[in-house]
Amino acid sequence: MNSLKVIDGKAAAARVLLQVKHDIAALGIQPGLAVILVGDDPASQVYVRNKVLRAEETGIRSLEYRLPADTGQASLLALIARLNADAQVNGILLQLPLPAHIDENRVLQAIAPGKDVDGFHSENVGGLSQGREVLTPCTPSGCMQLLHDTLGDLSGRHAVVIGRSNIVGKPMAALLLQAHCSVTVLHSRSQNAAQLCRQADIVIAAVGRPRMIDASWLKPGCVVIDVGINRIEDQGRSRLVGDVDFDSALPVASAITPVPGGVGPMTIAFLMKNTLTAALQQATPRSLPEAPCPSTC
Ligand code: GUN
Repeated sequence: MNSLKVIDGKAAAARVLLQVKHDIAALGIQPGLAVILVGDDPASQVYVRNKVLRAEETGIRSLEYRLPADTGQASLLALIARLNADAQVNGILLQLPLPAHIDENRVLQAIAPGKDVDGFHSENVGGLSQGREVLTPCTPSGCMQLLHDTLGDLSGRHAVVIGRSNIVGKPMAALLLQAHCSVTVLHSRSQNAAQLCRQADIVIAAVGRPRMIDASWLKPGCVVIDVGINRIEDQGRSRLVGDVDFDSALPVASAITPVPGGVGPMTIAFLMKNTLTAALQQATPRSLPEAPCPSTC
Protein backbone atom coordinates (compact mmCIF):
# COMPACT_ATOMS: atom_id res chain seq x y z
CA MET A 1 0.00 0.00 0.00
CA ASN A 2 1.31 3.46 -0.87
CA SER A 3 1.24 5.07 2.59
CA LEU A 4 1.79 8.55 1.14
CA LYS A 5 -1.57 8.28 -0.53
CA VAL A 6 -3.33 7.27 2.66
CA ILE A 7 -4.26 10.34 4.69
CA ASP A 8 -3.38 9.83 8.35
CA GLY A 9 -6.37 11.22 10.27
CA LYS A 10 -4.96 10.11 13.61
CA ALA A 11 -1.78 12.14 13.11
CA ALA A 12 -3.74 15.17 11.85
CA ALA A 13 -6.11 14.95 14.84
CA ALA A 14 -3.15 14.69 17.23
CA ARG A 15 -1.78 17.96 15.80
CA VAL A 16 -5.13 19.74 16.31
CA LEU A 17 -5.44 18.38 19.86
CA LEU A 18 -1.89 19.38 20.72
CA GLN A 19 -2.58 22.95 19.59
CA VAL A 20 -5.82 23.07 21.62
CA LYS A 21 -4.02 21.67 24.68
CA HIS A 22 -1.23 24.19 24.26
CA ASP A 23 -3.68 27.12 23.89
CA ILE A 24 -5.63 26.03 26.98
CA ALA A 25 -2.45 25.79 29.05
CA ALA A 26 -1.12 29.12 27.75
CA LEU A 27 -4.39 30.90 28.54
CA GLY A 28 -4.64 29.30 31.99
CA ILE A 29 -8.31 28.39 31.52
CA GLN A 30 -10.26 25.17 31.88
CA PRO A 31 -13.14 24.97 29.39
CA GLY A 32 -16.10 22.77 30.42
CA LEU A 33 -17.87 20.38 28.06
CA ALA A 34 -21.17 18.67 28.93
CA VAL A 35 -21.80 15.46 27.00
CA ILE A 36 -25.35 14.07 27.04
CA LEU A 37 -26.17 10.53 25.94
CA VAL A 38 -29.78 9.34 25.98
CA GLY A 39 -30.25 5.57 25.76
CA ASP A 40 -27.77 2.77 25.22
CA ASP A 41 -26.93 2.73 21.51
CA PRO A 42 -23.59 0.83 21.49
CA ALA A 43 -21.91 2.98 18.81
CA SER A 44 -22.95 6.20 20.61
CA GLN A 45 -21.52 4.83 23.87
CA VAL A 46 -18.14 4.33 22.19
CA TYR A 47 -18.22 7.83 20.64
CA VAL A 48 -19.13 9.44 23.97
CA ARG A 49 -16.41 7.55 25.83
CA ASN A 50 -13.83 8.69 23.28
CA LYS A 51 -15.03 12.30 23.46
CA VAL A 52 -14.75 12.33 27.25
CA LEU A 53 -11.26 10.75 27.15
CA ARG A 54 -9.97 13.25 24.57
CA ALA A 55 -11.44 16.15 26.57
CA GLU A 56 -9.58 15.09 29.70
CA GLU A 57 -6.30 14.63 27.79
CA THR A 58 -6.66 18.10 26.34
CA GLY A 59 -7.35 19.95 29.59
CA ILE A 60 -11.11 20.28 29.14
CA ARG A 61 -13.33 19.45 32.11
CA SER A 62 -15.99 17.02 30.93
CA LEU A 63 -19.36 16.41 32.56
CA GLU A 64 -21.12 13.26 31.44
CA TYR A 65 -24.90 12.85 31.53
CA ARG A 66 -26.00 9.31 30.70
CA LEU A 67 -29.79 9.24 30.67
CA PRO A 68 -32.06 6.21 30.29
CA ALA A 69 -33.72 5.57 26.90
CA ASP A 70 -37.16 6.41 28.32
CA THR A 71 -36.11 9.91 29.46
CA GLY A 72 -38.91 12.34 28.66
CA GLN A 73 -38.38 15.31 26.38
CA ALA A 74 -39.30 17.72 29.20
CA SER A 75 -36.54 16.34 31.48
CA LEU A 76 -34.01 16.60 28.66
CA LEU A 77 -35.07 20.21 27.99
CA ALA A 78 -34.79 20.96 31.72
CA LEU A 79 -31.22 19.57 31.79
CA ILE A 80 -30.27 21.64 28.74
CA ALA A 81 -31.73 24.78 30.35
CA ARG A 82 -29.65 24.11 33.48
CA LEU A 83 -26.47 23.61 31.43
CA ASN A 84 -27.20 26.75 29.37
CA ALA A 85 -27.31 28.74 32.62
CA ASP A 86 -24.18 27.15 34.13
CA ALA A 87 -21.15 29.39 33.64
CA GLN A 88 -18.82 26.40 34.21
CA VAL A 89 -20.21 24.75 31.08
CA ASN A 90 -18.91 26.26 27.85
CA GLY A 91 -20.03 23.57 25.42
CA ILE A 92 -23.01 21.20 25.26
CA LEU A 93 -22.95 18.08 23.09
CA LEU A 94 -26.11 16.02 22.73
CA GLN A 95 -25.12 12.72 21.14
CA LEU A 96 -27.33 11.69 18.20
CA PRO A 97 -29.38 9.72 17.35
CA LEU A 98 -31.98 10.28 20.06
CA PRO A 99 -34.76 7.82 20.96
CA ALA A 100 -37.72 8.17 18.58
CA HIS A 101 -40.07 9.77 21.16
CA ILE A 102 -37.83 12.87 21.42
CA ASP A 103 -38.15 15.65 18.84
CA GLU A 104 -34.51 16.06 17.81
CA ASN A 105 -34.93 19.49 16.28
CA ARG A 106 -36.81 20.82 19.32
CA VAL A 107 -34.05 19.84 21.75
CA LEU A 108 -31.18 20.91 19.50
CA GLN A 109 -32.77 24.37 19.20
CA ALA A 110 -32.89 24.56 23.02
CA ILE A 111 -29.07 24.53 23.28
CA ALA A 112 -27.71 28.07 23.60
CA PRO A 113 -26.11 28.89 20.20
CA GLY A 114 -22.89 30.03 21.92
CA LYS A 115 -22.57 26.62 23.65
CA ASP A 116 -23.62 24.62 20.58
CA VAL A 117 -20.23 22.97 19.94
CA ASP A 118 -21.83 20.72 17.29
CA GLY A 119 -22.93 23.73 15.25
CA PHE A 120 -26.43 22.25 14.81
CA HIS A 121 -28.50 25.21 16.11
CA SER A 122 -30.27 27.08 13.30
CA GLU A 123 -28.47 30.30 14.26
CA ASN A 124 -25.12 28.59 13.65
CA VAL A 125 -26.39 26.80 10.51
CA GLY A 126 -27.60 30.15 9.13
CA GLY A 127 -24.36 31.86 10.10
CA LEU A 128 -22.33 29.20 8.31
CA SER A 129 -24.33 29.59 5.12
CA GLN A 130 -23.82 33.36 5.29
CA GLY A 131 -20.08 32.96 5.86
CA ARG A 132 -20.18 34.37 9.42
CA GLU A 133 -17.77 33.12 12.09
CA VAL A 134 -19.87 30.63 14.04
CA LEU A 135 -19.45 27.26 15.71
CA THR A 136 -19.26 24.82 12.78
CA PRO A 137 -20.10 21.07 12.70
CA CYS A 138 -17.09 19.00 13.74
CA THR A 139 -16.95 16.33 11.02
CA PRO A 140 -17.07 18.75 8.07
CA SER A 141 -14.52 21.00 9.82
CA GLY A 142 -12.23 17.98 10.22
CA CYS A 143 -12.66 17.08 6.54
CA MET A 144 -11.72 20.64 5.54
CA GLN A 145 -8.55 20.44 7.63
CA LEU A 146 -7.57 17.16 5.93
CA LEU A 147 -8.23 18.69 2.50
CA HIS A 148 -6.15 21.79 3.27
CA ASP A 149 -3.34 19.60 4.64
CA THR A 150 -3.41 17.54 1.43
CA LEU A 151 -4.10 20.12 -1.29
CA GLY A 152 -3.37 23.53 0.25
CA ASP A 153 -5.60 26.10 -1.45
CA LEU A 154 -8.90 24.57 -2.60
CA SER A 155 -9.97 27.53 -4.68
CA GLY A 156 -11.54 26.58 -8.03
CA ARG A 157 -11.56 22.82 -7.37
CA HIS A 158 -14.66 20.82 -8.17
CA ALA A 159 -15.90 19.06 -5.02
CA VAL A 160 -18.62 16.43 -5.06
CA VAL A 161 -20.37 15.75 -1.74
CA ILE A 162 -22.31 12.48 -1.70
CA GLY A 163 -25.02 12.73 0.96
CA ARG A 164 -27.15 15.66 2.14
CA SER A 165 -27.51 15.14 5.90
CA ASN A 166 -27.72 18.09 8.29
CA ILE A 167 -24.71 16.74 10.23
CA VAL A 168 -22.30 16.28 7.31
CA GLY A 169 -23.49 16.77 3.72
CA LYS A 170 -25.08 20.23 3.95
CA PRO A 171 -22.48 21.92 6.21
CA MET A 172 -19.71 20.25 4.16
CA ALA A 173 -21.08 21.83 0.99
CA ALA A 174 -21.25 25.24 2.74
CA LEU A 175 -17.62 25.01 3.94
CA LEU A 176 -16.37 23.95 0.49
CA LEU A 177 -18.23 26.85 -1.08
CA GLN A 178 -16.63 29.19 1.47
CA ALA A 179 -13.25 27.80 0.38
CA HIS A 180 -14.14 28.80 -3.20
CA CYS A 181 -14.77 25.30 -4.57
CA SER A 182 -17.41 24.54 -7.21
CA VAL A 183 -19.71 22.22 -5.29
CA THR A 184 -22.04 19.44 -6.45
CA VAL A 185 -24.21 17.62 -3.90
CA LEU A 186 -25.37 14.12 -4.87
CA HIS A 187 -28.07 12.20 -3.03
CA SER A 188 -30.38 9.21 -3.27
CA ARG A 189 -32.47 10.80 -6.06
CA SER A 190 -29.50 11.99 -8.17
CA GLN A 191 -29.42 10.68 -11.72
CA ASN A 192 -26.07 9.64 -13.23
CA ALA A 193 -24.42 9.97 -9.82
CA ALA A 194 -21.27 8.00 -10.75
CA GLN A 195 -20.83 10.01 -13.95
CA LEU A 196 -21.16 13.33 -12.06
CA CYS A 197 -18.77 12.10 -9.38
CA ARG A 198 -16.15 11.26 -12.03
CA GLN A 199 -15.84 15.00 -12.70
CA ALA A 200 -14.71 15.72 -9.13
CA ASP A 201 -11.25 16.79 -7.96
CA ILE A 202 -12.46 16.20 -4.40
CA VAL A 203 -14.95 13.50 -3.34
CA ILE A 204 -16.59 13.58 0.10
CA ALA A 205 -18.50 10.34 0.73
CA ALA A 206 -21.14 10.68 3.46
CA VAL A 207 -24.00 8.38 2.51
CA GLY A 208 -23.85 5.67 5.17
CA ARG A 209 -23.78 2.79 2.67
CA PRO A 210 -20.85 0.38 2.99
CA ARG A 211 -18.34 0.53 0.07
CA MET A 212 -20.86 2.09 -2.30
CA ILE A 213 -18.27 4.21 -4.12
CA ASP A 214 -15.68 2.28 -6.09
CA ALA A 215 -13.05 3.17 -8.70
CA SER A 216 -15.70 3.58 -11.42
CA TRP A 217 -16.95 6.74 -9.59
CA LEU A 218 -13.52 8.41 -9.43
CA LYS A 219 -11.44 10.61 -11.72
CA PRO A 220 -7.77 9.56 -11.65
CA GLY A 221 -5.87 11.77 -9.20
CA CYS A 222 -8.87 12.92 -7.17
CA VAL A 223 -8.74 13.26 -3.37
CA VAL A 224 -11.23 11.06 -1.52
CA ILE A 225 -12.50 11.81 2.00
CA ASP A 226 -14.57 8.94 3.39
CA VAL A 227 -16.90 9.97 6.21
CA GLY A 228 -18.75 6.64 6.38
CA ILE A 229 -18.38 4.36 9.39
CA ASN A 230 -20.32 1.15 8.66
CA ARG A 231 -20.13 -2.06 10.64
CA ILE A 232 -20.31 -5.13 8.39
CA GLU A 233 -19.93 -8.88 8.77
CA ASP A 234 -16.98 -10.01 6.65
CA GLN A 235 -16.03 -13.71 6.53
CA GLY A 236 -17.67 -14.26 9.90
CA ARG A 237 -15.94 -11.23 11.46
CA SER A 238 -17.45 -7.87 12.33
CA ARG A 239 -15.45 -4.91 11.02
CA LEU A 240 -15.72 -1.22 10.11
CA VAL A 241 -15.71 -0.05 6.49
CA GLY A 242 -16.35 3.31 4.88
CA ASP A 243 -18.74 4.41 2.14
CA VAL A 244 -15.82 4.00 -0.29
CA ASP A 245 -14.45 0.67 -1.45
CA PHE A 246 -10.93 1.46 -0.26
CA ASP A 247 -9.07 -1.28 -2.15
CA SER A 248 -10.75 -0.36 -5.41
CA ALA A 249 -10.29 3.42 -4.96
CA LEU A 250 -6.68 3.41 -3.73
CA PRO A 251 -4.95 2.96 -7.12
CA VAL A 252 -7.10 5.68 -8.73
CA ALA A 253 -7.09 8.43 -6.07
CA SER A 254 -4.08 10.67 -5.39
CA ALA A 255 -4.96 10.59 -1.68
CA ILE A 256 -7.65 8.85 0.37
CA THR A 257 -8.71 8.58 4.01
CA PRO A 258 -8.91 5.09 5.54
CA VAL A 259 -11.73 3.80 7.76
CA PRO A 260 -11.03 3.65 10.64
CA GLY A 261 -8.24 6.19 11.24
CA GLY A 262 -9.31 8.86 8.76
CA VAL A 263 -12.10 11.32 9.46
CA GLY A 264 -13.24 9.79 12.79
CA PRO A 265 -10.41 11.14 14.97
CA MET A 266 -10.78 14.58 13.34
CA THR A 267 -14.42 14.85 14.45
CA ILE A 268 -13.38 14.52 18.08
CA ALA A 269 -10.42 16.88 17.68
CA PHE A 270 -12.69 19.58 16.26
CA LEU A 271 -15.14 19.08 19.10
CA MET A 272 -12.33 20.05 21.48
CA LYS A 273 -11.36 22.97 19.26
CA ASN A 274 -14.98 24.20 19.22
CA THR A 275 -15.18 23.87 23.02
CA LEU A 276 -12.12 26.11 23.40
CA THR A 277 -13.57 28.59 20.87
CA ALA A 278 -16.88 28.64 22.78
CA ALA A 279 -15.08 29.20 26.10
CA LEU A 280 -13.09 32.11 24.66
CA GLN A 281 -16.21 33.69 23.17
CA GLN A 282 -18.04 33.40 26.49
CA ALA A 283 -15.21 34.83 28.56
CA THR A 284 -15.92 38.35 29.71
CA PRO A 285 -12.96 40.78 29.57
CA ARG A 286 -12.70 40.45 33.35
CA SER A 287 -12.41 36.66 33.32
CA LEU A 288 -9.86 36.64 30.50
CA PRO A 289 -6.23 36.36 31.53
CA GLU A 290 -4.63 39.78 31.99
CA ALA A 291 -3.80 41.19 28.55
CA PRO A 292 -0.67 43.25 28.05
CA CYS A 293 -1.45 46.98 28.28
CA PRO A 294 -1.61 48.53 24.79
CA SER A 295 0.78 51.42 24.19
CA THR A 296 -2.14 53.89 24.14
CA CYS A 297 -3.20 53.27 27.77
N1 GUN B 1 -23.86 11.31 15.99
C1 GUN B 1 -23.10 11.04 14.89
N2 GUN B 1 -22.30 12.08 14.59
C2 GUN B 1 -22.54 13.04 15.52
C3 GUN B 1 -22.01 14.33 15.73
O1 GUN B 1 -21.15 14.84 15.00
N3 GUN B 1 -22.51 15.00 16.81
C4 GUN B 1 -23.48 14.47 17.61
N4 GUN B 1 -23.91 15.21 18.63
N5 GUN B 1 -23.99 13.27 17.43
C5 GUN B 1 -23.52 12.56 16.39
